[in-house]
Amino acid sequence: MAKHKTPLLDQLESGPWPSFVSDLKLEAEVRAKNEKNVNYQIPVEVVEDLLGVLELSFTDGETHWKHGGIVGVFGYGGGVIGRYCDQPEAFPGVAHFHTVRVAQPTGKYYTTEFLRQIIDIWDMRGSGLTNMHGSTGDIVFLGTTTPQLEEIFYELTHDANVDLGGSGSNLRTPAACLGQSRCEYACYDAQGLCYDMTMEFQDELHRPAFPYKFKFKFDACPNSCVCALARSDFSVVGIWKDEIRIDQEAVAAYVGGEFAPNAGAHSGRDWGKFNIQTEVCDNCPSKCITYADNKLTINDKECVHCMHCINTMPRALMIGNDRGASILCGAKAPILDGPQLSSLLVPFIKVEEPYTEVKDVVENIWDWWMEEGKNRERLGETMRRMGFQKLLEVTNTKADPRHVQEPRHNPYIFWKADEVDGPWERDVNEYRKRHQR
Ligand code: HEM
Ligand code: HEM
Ligand code: SF4
Ligand code: SF4
Repeated sequence: MAKHKTPLLDQLESGPWPSFVSDLKLEAEVRAKNEKNVNYQIPVEVVEDLLGVLELSFTDGETHWKHGGIVGVFGYGGGVIGRYCDQPEAFPGVAHFHTVRVAQPTGKYYTTEFLRQIIDIWDMRGSGLTNMHGSTGDIVFLGTTTPQLEEIFYELTHDANVDLGGSGSNLRTPAACLGQSRCEYACYDAQGLCYDMTMEFQDELHRPAFPYKFKFKFDACPNSCVCALARSDFSVVGIWKDEIRIDQEAVAAYVGGEFAPNAGAHSGRDWGKFNIQTEVCDNCPSKCITYADNKLTINDKECVHCMHCINTMPRALMIGNDRGASILCGAKAPILDGPQLSSLLVPFIKVEEPYTEVKDVVENIWDWWMEEGKNRERLGETMRRMGFQKLLEVTNTKADPRHVQEPRHNPYIFWKADEVDGPWERDVNEYRKRHQR
């Protein structure tokens, strides 16, 4: 018998999509029965009470979590999101309901052994509820009490050999696409770079030292499966510099209908026979592909690496062999001054262990932003306030036409004093000698 009546939530148990309500009820039941004899460290009814408080929020259309919450573990300045219910008498099981961010492996490949290990910790010391995964990438343990935080941290680090993720004004948990592990498009080892940078900057991740949050994300090609240029202040996107490799026989197989375009991604609907002219050549944003006399040619000098042709004919077209990445900066959500996608800073950089070149760019940006960034000002906003040119200066990057989508149209141009003949300091009397008032 459920502790609280949940008529509104019950409606979300119907329909084909996996129901979070059904899952929560199941977990509530598992805890109530406790067939494994777990020595529960937080209220057994935590899940029941979570359903109860959520039903209340459904009824009155308001959240029932109090403002904020500052909890954590010694040594770190972040990693745990404290939270308290504003109806603790009605729902004592969620009076404390803190979230613990746990560092995930890059690409999110797991063994069941590891997952069982961390879930055993969480079943005993938390609610048993999780988010797999948070948007930034972390494994998210949803709901525990303050006294359990150090216990959980001890067991995660000593038994499961896993650390906390980031929160607060610091480097947050980095994430990557699954890269070379199972994608033919990967231009660099996104997982390798992600892991290396995460380990390199542990201090910046665990102890907030920044004006505001800062995120890394690593996409191994411009398809951007981890969405780096929209969701990270420092976005690394794989790219190649030489020619797209063409297998003419495979092109013929696409044209002949043996290979399905886009690896069969549109097979749910009849789009007619594959037409290489309209589906590939005409869609190339640079119009740099031609198909004539049964031969596909690409004018690579004009290719912008949009991935369209490769995505459409993955068995015939392959990324080039001279590979690296572009670095883009400044993506952020709307608050305060409007949303931003990252802007291209380094058009091409080699990405090879120990990744010194990439790390140099990050550290130069941090040196600048940590001094000049205002309180709670994202890198993207600092760039807008102080100018892209400043970012180029501090990263020792030479200005390049690729840094802009288009040149400025307003003439409010700043010159440095030493770029202009004669000093800024002028004597008006000298001028008056030639020009009467
Ligand atoms: C034959 C008459 C005029 C000529 C040839 C002339 C020419 C110019 C030129 C070449 C500029 C510089 C534009 C630039 O660098 O973008 C300018 C700016 C300006 N002129 Fe004139 N002008 C004339 C009459 C006037 C008059 C009668 C006024 C005011 C009543 C005036 C007010 C201004 C102002 C305020 C600016 C600065 C605009 C800005 O910086 O955006 N001008 N003018
Ligand atoms: C109380 C009266 C006025 C006030 C408060 C005022 C205020 C301003 C302000 C705030 C600006 C912008 C300055 C900038 O962006 O750097 C401006 C620009 C300008 N004003 Fe006025 N203004 C007044 C009267 C006038 C009059 C009477 C004229 C012309 C006869 C005039 C012509 C201009 C022009 C041409 C500009 C553009 C100057 C430039 O872009 O360099 N203003 N004014
Ligand atoms: S971003 Fe590119 S390389 Fe990475 S998984 Fe997606 S398609 Fe593959
Ligand atoms: S990657 Fe894009 S720009 Fe380059 S040739 Fe293919 S379709 Fe054209």
